[in-house]
Amino acid sequence: MTVAAIVPAAGRGERLGLGRPKALAVVGGLTLVARAVDGLVEGGVETVVVVAPPGDEDAMRAALGSRRAVVVPGADDRVGSVAAGLDALPADVDVVLVHDAARCLCPPEVVRAVVDAVRAGHRAVVPVTAVADTLRRTDPTGVVTGLVDRTGLAAVQTPQGFDPATLRAAHRRAGERRAAGGPVVATDDAGLAEDLGVGVVTVPGDPRAFKVTTPLDLVMAEALVATVEH
Ligand code: C5P
Repeated sequence: MTVAAIVPAAGRGERLGLGRPKALAVVGGLTLVARAVDGLVEGGVETVVVVAPPGDEDAMRAALGSRRAVVVPGADDRVGSVAAGLDALPADVDVVLVHDAARCLCPPEVVRAVVDAVRAGHRAVVPVTAVADTLRRTDPTGVVTGLVDRTGLAAVQTPQGFDPATLRAAHRRAGERRAAGGPVVATDDAGLAEDLGVGVVTVPGDPRAFKVTTPLDLVMAEALVATVEH
């Protein structure tokens, strides 16, 4: 039995503004996708499926170099890209992780904690951190309409871990909702599992698993890598 990971890396990364897929952005001489795969492997993942923007599969393979990973084309949104990765998983997997390429500096300890929690019998596991900012609800014009009580709130990261049957069932349900013209409101895989009524368990996340989204995030990632690797 093996631990597999799907790495959705098919986003175009428009908010980063580099003119190439975000996963191919470079931090400290290595692409985000290569760093994400290295972190997973260091955390005990044995099989990796990377989901590339359609047409960019070869560029993704080149970025991965000699790393052992299967590259498949993704879809228009993240849910569809993860579903494409699921289709490429081998049969003998007992834990499957879904890990955004954009969270490329996630420490291996977080990967191991998620895997251990799935192996302990939890069907869906997410790493979380505390919410630091004060939160307010606003109307479409930006006027504050209410206070959000921060007690009991958590910011959800990846890798998220699942037993494979649960993740497949969650994506099947999302596909059925779509086919019926209904909304798929979940923005991550744990959200899809919740939609099935599966209880989601948390483990401690890590600030270094932040998602590279904007040019400022790239600067922070560069600084972090420079601190750790030099
Ligand atoms: O856009 P965002 O940063 O929320 O994307 C999160 C992750 O999902 C990224 O690693 C991105 O490459 C991936 N993604 C994908 N397919 C899409 C959109 C996003 O694999 N169509």
